[in-house]
Amino acid sequence: MIFAPQLARSQSQIFVMDWLGTTDPVLLEILWRMADETREQGVGDAVHLRGLVEISNHCRKNCCYCGIRHANHRTNRYRMEIDEILECALQAVDFGYGTLVLQAGEDESMSCSWVVDLIHLIKKETNLTITLSLGEQSEENLSAFRSAGADRYFMRFETSNQQLYQQLHPNSTGKLPYRISLLEKMKSLGYETGSGAMVDLPGQTYRDICTDLQLIGKLEMDMVGLGPFIPHPDTPLGKHPEKFGPRLAADPVQQELLTCKMTALLRILYPDINIPATTASATLNPADGTEKMLRCGANVIMPNLTPNHYRRKYDIYPGKAGADADTTEQHQQILDIIRNAGRTVGTGPGSSRHYQKNRKNPGNTHHEITSRTSQQSPCSRFY
Ligand code: 5AD
Ligand code: SF4
Repeated sequence: MIFAPQLARSQSQIFVMDWLGTTDPVLLEILWRMADETREQGVGDAVHLRGLVEISNHCRKNCCYCGIRHANHRTNRYRMEIDEILECALQAVDFGYGTLVLQAGEDESMSCSWVVDLIHLIKKETNLTITLSLGEQSEENLSAFRSAGADRYFMRFETSNQQLYQQLHPNSTGKLPYRISLLEKMKSLGYETGSGAMVDLPGQTYRDICTDLQLIGKLEMDMVGLGPFIPHPDTPLGKHPEKFGPRLAADPVQQELLTCKMTALLRILYPDINIPATTASATLNPADGTEKMLRCGANVIMPNLTPNHYRRKYDIYPGKAGADADTTEQHQQILDIIRNAGRTVGTGPGSSRHYQKNRKNPGNTHHEITSRTSQQSPCSRFY
């Protein structure tokens, strides 16, 4: 099993499948090293910090894995006030973060004009880059948020297996192709666009993971988040996982290993994208989950700035890392993790190099952009 950039399509799938299945410690060391070297060459040593604010846990959706799904009546719902969110933004500035991530469920009472006003206010009071993670929004809303000054949009496709996607998203407004069309829309609006998937969902196979990696290339994403699935007891997937199929990993250690392997392969395939060390990875392994992700390709961390009394209620999976942490202590711990890993703390917006190279120039039309990047896509080396 070797790293060969000129592999043909069929060989490349075998390449990814082989790596996903390997347990040989010597080979795994090679994989981590290849990912780390690719990361260094592709995006450098800086780890960019994004302040995360979970602005509302209301959601109209019923994703079978998520603790804040609409049907979970045990969820204590909240929606932050504008001035509370601004406080968090100012905290991000104090900590030296360049980006604020505004995340929420699909909250129907969060009007377009409210979000637009929020973006205007944050842009007026700070020089933060704004990432939105507000789920599936209409094209009109996406356009209005972008015009108001939002810089990035993040929305995972969760799994590229259409059948599994439909099982996991009952009564959803859209199916996987609809979600993908929204990601395309975000790109055409000029957003730096991110997506990603969950790892080790019941019913997910190695082939699905391979296809997830392939889809990321087809979509030409600028940033990609991969997180292990963590069962929540108040969800269909937590209560009846057997209905969805077997899991690839037998325990959290294997699950972490699989997440690291997928992250390493992601980095090797796409050297210039931004990859966060996800909160789900830190939850699975509170001791050194984040550090491990930094060593296998990640270059972004998202410290949680949500006030603690709200943070606990953003309960998408149990035991979420940092749910009770003091914000300042957490900030210091993250700086320590970065330094212990021999890395530097990023400054400024920390925009994805993939975005800077391919889509940042506002003079480009979408068509020109797409045709240029598809020739350059590192994915074509493998698929
Ligand atoms: N385990 C891991 N990740 C989850 N998410 C939602 N529920 C879970 C869970 N039980 C992730 C999804 C979603 C993001 C907001 O959180 O990938 O996109
Ligand atoms: Fe809502 Fe997102 Fe949870 Fe689905 S994953 S129920 S869209 S918050």
